[in-house]
Amino acid sequence: MAPRKLAAGNWKMNGDLAALAEIDSLCGTHGNASCDILICPPAVLIHAMKERVGDHAIAIGGQDCHAKPSGAHTGDISAAQLKDAGASHVILGHSERRADHGETDADVAQKASAAFDAGLVAVICVGETEAERDAGQTLDVIGRQLSGSVPQAAHAGNCVIAYEPVWAIGTGRTPTNDQIAEVHAFMRNKLAAAVADAADISLLYGGSVKPANASEIFSIAHVDGALVGGASLKASDFGAIISAL
Ligand code: G3P
Repeated sequence: MAPRKLAAGNWKMNGDLAALAEIDSLCGTHGNASCDILICPPAVLIHAMKERVGDHAIAIGGQDCHAKPSGAHTGDISAAQLKDAGASHVILGHSERRADHGETDADVAQKASAAFDAGLVAVICVGETEAERDAGQTLDVIGRQLSGSVPQAAHAGNCVIAYEPVWAIGTGRTPTNDQIAEVHAFMRNKLAAAVADAADISLLYGGSVKPANASEIFSIAHVDGALVGGASLKASDFGAIISAL
């Protein structure tokens, strides 16, 4: 087996019911694409988006879940609730959650275990800040995040890893091809020490992926797809990225 090719869109805190028209367009143009497609809208849109997608081959995911299956956690959402609403995936450990909500690697690992228990695929995010890259710490940071955030129960069927350099998110800046290649090769090797089928785990790149740079990024070794923010909001842009994969 080889890693599955995956084009994933992270809508972050954007979109509303009217924006589901973009999904109608995407279903029309890419509803049966040769790669896997995932859209992660705000949680309030998951159920409606799932209904809109119908039989088209587009998976829906959450952007976070709680580590516990249920209980007194006001404002939180469990992995089982995401699944019940129609999600098959959940993004975990995004740098915006690590920064805005103080999520640690241990928190992310617990959430990933909860996602596995609920039958969701966890898309676990890692990435260095600009200061860490400038200090030559990139691989140390990625290694530490992988060790701390990816549970032992991870395998190619329930886990995807996304490398998202913090400084490339929403900035229009991207690492060089060599920098992406170095991190992705490192992640593949690092996972091999912990996970039996690490060679089959999909490794995504995220950070200012656009129609104009997608083909080049997808040609880099061990890049199996992308986690796309801003450019996933418009069906035409996201469709062009899917077509490049
Ligand atoms: O999770 C996707 C992300 O953080 C990248 O965002 O807008 O740079 O594609 P963007």
